[in-house]
This record gives sequence, C-alpha cells and structure tokens, in this order.
Amino acid sequence: MDHLTKTENSVKWQSPSNIAIVKYWGKKGIQIPMNPSISFSLSNAVTETEIVYTPKQNTEEVSLDFYFNGTRNHAFEDRFLKYLTQIKSEFKLLTQFHLSINSKNTFPHSAGIASSASSMSSMVLCLLSIEHKEKQLSKDAFLKKASYLSRLASGSACRSVYPGFSLWGKTSVLHSSSDEYAVPLSEIHPVFNDLQDSILIVNSKQKKISSSAGHLLMELHPFKEARIEQANQHATQLIKALKLGDFASFIRLCETEALSLHAMMMTSNPSYVLMEANSLKIIEKIRQFRNDSGFDLCFTLDAGPNIHLLYPKLIKEEIIKFIKAELLVYCESDNWIVDEMGNGPKKLDKQFYER
Ligand code: DP6
Repeated sequence: MDHLTKTENSVKWQSPSNIAIVKYWGKKGIQIPMNPSISFSLSNAVTETEIVYTPKQNTEEVSLDFYFNGTRNHAFEDRFLKYLTQIKSEFKLLTQFHLSINSKNTFPHSAGIASSASSMSSMVLCLLSIEHKEKQLSKDAFLKKASYLSRLASGSACRSVYPGFSLWGKTSVLHSSSDEYAVPLSEIHPVFNDLQDSILIVNSKQKKISSSAGHLLMELHPFKEARIEQANQHATQLIKALKLGDFASFIRLCETEALSLHAMMMTSNPSYVLMEANSLKIIEKIRQFRNDSGFDLCFTLDAGPNIHLLYPKLIKEEIIKFIKAELLVYCESDNWIVDEMGNGPKKLDKQFYER
C-alpha cells in the first residue's frame, strides 16, 4: 500500500462527550485524579476530527494548524501544540509530519456543554490510527492507549473512548482500574443500558471559572480528605448499583455527587458559585415530579449551571411532556438538547484496515 497517496494521508474519528455520575474533582501529579470517577458516553454530543498529515523535514518541533468548524482557531491551536509537544516522545509521526487538524462539534458550541472530552479523545484516536496503522495492536490495547493519552490532554477525555459506562481511577473493588487510564464497566444491568440525558440549558455562556482552576482549588480545600473518601465510597456503591439494576441507589448517588461537586466550589478558597437560580428551580421541580409520579428520573450537573436530566428510555414520552410543561420556562430561550447513552468513538474514514 502506498501511504503517501493523497487520500491515504488523512484519518478521521468521531468521539463522544460523557457525563460523569461520580465526579472527578481535584488532581495530583501529572493528570492523576484525586478520586475515582464513573461516567457514561453520550450519543449525539460528539466531535469529529480529521487529521491530514504531510511529510515534513524531520525536526524536533511539532508543527500543526488547527481549524474549528472550518475556521483557523489559534486558541485551540496553542493548546494542542502544547499538549503534542509534551507527548511527542510517544509518537514518531509528530516530528515526521505536519498536521492539519480539522474539528467540528455536532452539538452547538455555545450550548455550555464541555467539549474537551470529545475533542481531545477524537484527536488522540486519529494520532493513534496514523501511528499504528500497520501494527496489529489489539482493540483493547488500542483503546487503553487512547484513554491514557486522552487523560494527559484532559482528565475526563479518558472516559470517552469506551461505549456506555467507564471508570477512571484506582479503586479496590475493580482490579483492572487505574489512575492512568479509564476502563470500561462491563457488568451493567439492562435497566441502565438505554439511559436518556436531556440537557436543560440554563445558561450557555462560557463558565466564569474553568474546571482546571476548580481542580487546583481542591489541593488546599478544607474538605479535601472527606471529599476523596466520599467519592471512593460512591464509586464502590455505584458499581454495585449498576450491576444490580438498583435505580433508587443510582438516583441517590447521582444527585449527591452533583451537589457535592458544587458544594466543593462554594466552599473553596476563593469560593465561587456556578449554579444559578434556575438550576435550583429545575432541581426542585425534578424532585417534586419524582415524588408525585414515582418515575425513575434524576439530575446531575457538570461544572456549570446546566442540568442533565437522566431517565430510562421506557418513560421518555412522559418525561418530554414534563420538560415541555414545567422545565423549559427555566431554560435560556427554551433551549434543551436530547441525548442518550452512546456506543463510543467511531472511525469515519475507511482507507485504513478496520480493527
Ligand atoms: C466536573 O476533565 O475538564 O466535568 O483534566 O483539567 O481537563 P482537566 O479537567 P476536566 O474536568 C471535568 C470535571 C467534571 C467532572 C467529570 O467529568 O468527572
């Protein structure tokens, strides 16, 4: 095969965003989490990344240009350049080729949904495909390496390389777990296999404090040890609930985690608040509707004001009615996004052999 023909000089992957149930909050060393986290990959909120690579003079410098939705983006370019320079010993190709990276999100950029997990993991998957196109790396080894390298770019990105639920961070209840990469959670009861995520956009503006700044504030947080202990217990309990199909425990853990995350922000020094009045209104409505209807639904939040409403597909129709009747009034311009658990990343180009 001639690898230098025009069509074979590019590779393209799609990778999803994910929503954490047990939250990663606080890190140590080089992107090592203070506590284990568990999330599931989404289906619609994905980034598509294509890397076109052309041979260049073999210098030590990484060289790239980065386009977001077809337009050159210098802010992203600087972030990618910094990351790729950091990991250049992992990839020979980084010194052999000039990279033109083209990325686009299928979800609105302004929706206030974190995109670093999907964008970083899709970029890493492209690089690994180029580097390993002739090596017979097993699918498991390929994904483990993708998870490891994604973690170095953005912690939550390491959980995006798997379908369904995954766990990142060492925990005594799962032997294969690691601080260095995420692992898929395979023993999942069917009641959790088709989880829906309706994302209620309370405010789409970029958050005031980045997650990276929030992680840093955990280092000297007065509740640091208690939070690490709590997250470890929650991870253990969630793994069990997912295995048994225990939706009541899932709801309790999911909501406690979301509120603990925000409590950490409110009690850090300096303290800050990312929830808004309408986030609290929605939370109140969700709890009331759950009490009145007996349906299995619950909320979680990322590091922002938007509410992820989670529920099984079986009750989708009723929940959508509830959203339209009672929640949209608290959303910015009636804005909400329909998503659900997804099947993980997908290779979009067909030039190379399929794994
Ligand atoms: C609240 O992965 O964005 O979404 O490693 O600094 O890139 P960096 O942080 P990031 O943090 C995500 C935090 C969270 C919880 C979670 O996804 O587990």
